Amino acid sequence: MKSIQSNIKKAKKYLDNNDCIAVPTETVYGLAGNAYSNVSIKKIYKLKKRPLNNPLIVHYHNLYQLKKDCDFNDNFLKLYKKFSPGPLTYILKLKKNSKISKFVNNNKKTLAVRFPKHNLLRNLLKSLNYPLAAPSANISSRLSSVKVSDVQDEFGIKIKFILDGKKSKIGVESTIINLLNNPSILRYGGLEISKIEKVLNKKLIIKTNTKRIISPGLFSLHYSPGIPLRNNVKIPHRDEAFVLIKKRKILSKNYYYLSKINDLNEAAKNLYSTLRKIKKDGFKRIAVEKIPNKGLGKTINDRLNRASKF
Ligand code: TXA
Ligand code: MG
Repeated sequence: MKSIQSNIKKAKKYLDNNDCIAVPTETVYGLAGNAYSNVSIKKIYKLKKRPLNNPLIVHYHNLYQLKKDCDFNDNFLKLYKKFSPGPLTYILKLKKNSKISKFVNNNKKTLAVRFPKHNLLRNLLKSLNYPLAAPSANISSRLSSVKVSDVQDEFGIKIKFILDGKKSKIGVESTIINLLNNPSILRYGGLEISKIEKVLNKKLIIKTNTKRIISPGLFSLHYSPGIPLRNNVKIPHRDEAFVLIKKRKILSKNYYYLSKINDLNEAAKNLYSTLRKIKKDGFKRIAVEKIPNKGLGKTINDRLNRASKF
């Protein structure tokens, strides 16, 4: 208990000092900095090698904090009540007098906001008098990190501090919903679309593949393990690692399974760590079995399709 408190204090010290650090969330680890500080935010882009025109998500402890930076609307309040804190990111209108650094959102009039659920991070956010901008803690276009050793693999000694919150429970990034006009989904993620549709009582427009650049980070090569990957494979080549959706009775040496019992939530949680392990084990190619396209299977397929563009 004591060491948890002292780690949160340490994290706060770095952040107050305009440094960026890695923090755990229930989706994936984030590379966090003071969202009101140009200095902090520029450090995040530099460390991640991220183009400045790809805006960041800002993480808040509660609505009271957010009120200073964004305008609310009815759909937002409905969804907030049901799903926050949790794996849903909202695109809202930025207030004119907000203190958010212009580097966070590339000078746009909108802001991506999220209320993360991880207890450690919530305690940290509560202790700060600014929100935290935090993209996923990985070098641009690579796989997100779901545990401390992933973050170390990505940044080595360049990262000054990692707040250890164990393995991320959800394992894929948040779902992003644009709430400016007619609600639309910009990224599949940790929250199933059907659950959001139920609360809003309408079918949502899916804009995850549109050519118009709303979220630049969503269109280029993304979520790449750094080696070629093929999807919907029935029989793998001999030199390929073969990713299965569920465990089989007989497992060859090159077989990896995402879930014991074909559970798509478990599979999402294990997706990035399995792909990282395959690479560490020395494979040069990956083949993936067909994943059911329902529930979080849609998020898994979205990530695998992007990864296959390598
Ligand atoms: O689960 C998550 O969302 C994790 C954890 C750390 O919270 N964060 C994360 O951030 O995935 P990042 O930077 O890897 O992805 C954020 C995405 C990017 O694709 C970006 O283009 C989009 O959000 N985005 C940010 N601001 C936006 C805005 N104002 N309008 C549209 N898209 C935006
Ligand atoms: Mg990312």
